[in-house]
Amino acid sequence: MKANLVLLPGDGIGPEIVESAKSVLEVVAKRFGHEFQYTSCLIGGIAIDETGDPLPQDTVDACRQSDAILLGAVGGPKWDDPNAKTRPEAGLLRIRKELGLFANLRPIKMFDQLADASPLRPDIIKGTDILFFRELTGGIYFGQSGSGEVDGHESAYQSMVYSVPEVERIVRLAAKAAQGRDNRLTSVDKANVLEPSRLWRRTAARVMADEFPDVQYDVVLVDAMAMHLINRPADFDVVVTGNMFGDILTDEASMLPGSLGMLPSASLGDGGPGLYEPIHGSAPDIAGKGIANPLATILASAMLLRHSLDLNEEAAAVESAVQEVLADGLRTADIARGGDSVSTEVMGQAVTAKLA
Ligand code: NAD
Ligand code: IPM
Ligand code: MN
Repeated sequence: MKANLVLLPGDGIGPEIVESAKSVLEVVAKRFGHEFQYTSCLIGGIAIDETGDPLPQDTVDACRQSDAILLGAVGGPKWDDPNAKTRPEAGLLRIRKELGLFANLRPIKMFDQLADASPLRPDIIKGTDILFFRELTGGIYFGQSGSGEVDGHESAYQSMVYSVPEVERIVRLAAKAAQGRDNRLTSVDKANVLEPSRLWRRTAARVMADEFPDVQYDVVLVDAMAMHLINRPADFDVVVTGNMFGDILTDEASMLPGSLGMLPSASLGDGGPGLYEPIHGSAPDIAGKGIANPLATILASAMLLRHSLDLNEEAAAVESAVQEVLADGLRTADIARGGDSVSTEVMGQAVTAKLA
C-alpha cells in the first residue's frame, strides 16, 4: 500500500527518537512491499523559533492531507518563560483539537523480558495489561482561563468543562475496546468533589447500562486509582478517564513496565488521520546525548500501522522485534537499572535488524 506520513520531530529528544522510528517504518515498507512517503513538519519550540508559531498553518495542512502522523515531543527549558506569548505545548494541544483527536489510547503492557526494570515487585506487576482511554480534547486543558484579583491578590483560574456528547463518545470507544479484550471497563473521576465529574459519572453509567449491559463496569475515584495502580495493577482491563486525570495516571502507570521510555500512544478521532506519539516528553535532561529510549516511539509507529493503515501483521512484527531485542538483553539507560546500556541508535538498529 501507499501511505503519506507526516513526521513531527519537535524538540529535545524528539528528533532522535523519530529518526529511529522512521528507520523502522522504512524496513517495514521494504519487507512487506509498501510505499511510505514522509513529510517532516515543524511543531513546538523549534516552530516558535523558526516561525513564531508553535503550530504553523503548513503543518496543520500537511497533517490534514496525511494518512497518519508520528510525533516525537515538544517543549523544553528554552521556551519555559512564564511571560512568553506562546509555548511549544500549545502547538500540541492545538493539533489534537484541530484534528478532533478526542481519544488517546495508552496501553500499559508488561514485557516479560523487562520484569527486572520495574521498581515494583514482580508478583505485583505480573499479568498487568491495561488500556487507558484518556479524553484528549476537552476538560480542564481546554476550559476558560484567565487572571484577575482575589482579595487584593493576583489570581488565575482555569475551568473544567465536559459536555454529555464529549463523555458519551469516549466511553463508547472504551467500552467497545473492552468487548474485544477482557470485557471490563473502569471509569475514573472525582465525582465526590467536581461537578463535571458528576456529569461524567452519570453519563458513563447511562451509556454502559443502555448500550453495553454485557460489559462489567465500575467507577473509581482518581485519588484511589493512583493507589490501586501501584497496589493491584493487574486487576484492571480498560480504563476511561478525563484529560488531566489520564495524563497523570498514565505517567504513573508507565513505571509498571519500568520506564516512560517504553510507552506509546495513539490519538484518534472520528475518521481522519490519527496521531501517534510516545507518552513521554522531550526529556531535556538527556536531549542531544543519544541515550534516549526510542522504543516508545517505535511502538507508537506499530500503533500507527495497526490503527491508521490497518496493517496488523506489520504492527505485530514491529512489536515482536522489540520483544526480541529486549530478550537479547539490550537496554537503554532508563531500563538498564544501573547495568550496561546502549545508545538510541544501537537500540533502533537492533530493532530494524530483527525486522529485516
Ligand atoms: P519528560 O517526559 O520529558 O521526562 C521525564 C523524565 O523521563 C526525564 O528524566 C527524562 O529523561 C525521562 N525520559 C522521558 N522520555 C525518555 C526516553 N524516551 N528515554 C529515556 N528517558 C526518558 O517530562 P518533563 O521533563 O516533565 O518535561 C520536559 C518537557 O517535555 C516539558 O516542556 C513538557 O511540557 C514536555 N512534554 C511534552 C510531551 C509531548 O510532547 N507529548 C509530553 C510530556 C512532556
Ligand atoms: C502528554 C503531555 C502533554 C499533555 C503536554 C505536553 C501538553 O504531557 O502528551 O502527555 O499534557 O497532554
Ligand atoms: Mn503527559
